[in-house]
Amino acid sequence: MQNILDHDTVAFDEQSGTLDIIDQTLLPGETKIIKLKDIKDIWEAIYLLKVRGAPAIGVAAAIGIYVVMLSEDTSDAGDFARKFHEHKEYLVSARPTAVNLSWALERMEKVCLANKAAGVETMLKALKAEALEIRAEDEDMCLKIGENALTLLKKGAGLLTHCNAGQLATSKYGTATSAMYLGHKRGYGFKIYCDETRPLLQGARLTAYELASAGMDVTLCCDNMVSSLMRQGLIDAVFVGCDRVAANGDVANKIGTSVVAAIAARYGVPFYVCAPSSTIDPGTASGDDIVIEQRPGEEVTEMWYAKRMAPEGIKVYNPAFDITDHELITAIITEKGILRPPYDLKSL
Ligand code: MRU
Repeated sequence: MQNILDHDTVAFDEQSGTLDIIDQTLLPGETKIIKLKDIKDIWEAIYLLKVRGAPAIGVAAAIGIYVVMLSEDTSDAGDFARKFHEHKEYLVSARPTAVNLSWALERMEKVCLANKAAGVETMLKALKAEALEIRAEDEDMCLKIGENALTLLKKGAGLLTHCNAGQLATSKYGTATSAMYLGHKRGYGFKIYCDETRPLLQGARLTAYELASAGMDVTLCCDNMVSSLMRQGLIDAVFVGCDRVAANGDVANKIGTSVVAAIAARYGVPFYVCAPSSTIDPGTASGDDIVIEQRPGEEVTEMWYAKRMAPEGIKVYNPAFDITDHELITAIITEKGILRPPYDLKSL
């Protein structure tokens, strides 16, 4: 099997001045790197999940807005900053739930404005440095999350993950998968299970693929088989990623996460959320304040099927994310350490 990990999930290509991403909608069948520099194409790549996963979206937006600004034809710093703001507002509208998107773009705008007095050339240089820094920090946070998570695990453990919080969702290592990569290298011999993650199948198409291509022992199951695995004692811990962590520890993550958490609580399986600080949003009080993205019904009724599998005109409920209540979360693993309840993330 080709190792998908040999490719960068998100990168800046200096030569072509483009944002380069793996088109994840084609995986696992085809590995295609697409090169983007047009703002509409970047927006669409985020909306259509060609690039997805909270940290990867943030990094893509940071590099993306830089490459867009590279081709802005103005030498007036005020004009440049105004255009930057317009592009930023547009990109933020692509997906509402993952805080990383606005977090990365806010960071970029701060740098843009801080260099305004020095002129457009300096603003561009600073934007490039900040975008690359956001990418490098993401890689570093993922690695540290993995080291922290690994301290919780024994050799031979059975691990379950939901959706894809892997390398394909970040700059490297993933968040929920980071300890799996580190443990694999160090001979831990984990038995990993991933669920399909209906309706967009990030578990089947992406997690199963990336972990198997790294040589790990990984078994795929349908979303509704998780309880069966846990009842048999095959799962020692659950690791998931997140799209936004509220100040009280409530977590938004891929739809179905809360179901896994509730079943884990039923069977006494520790449920860990891996959260880089870019995903922690102290400004949001609780899960009730998190905007949940709603997606087209066709993702449920016909996407992936050879023929449509639901009646024409049927009403569809298709939220992309759900909230896992903080009471169901054993610990939140960040790059800075392992947080245990009661959670109070206001000052992070
Ligand atoms: O809709 P997606 O595929 O972007 O959703 C991804 C998830 O929910 C991930 O678990 C989350 O973004 C964390 S990725 C490290």
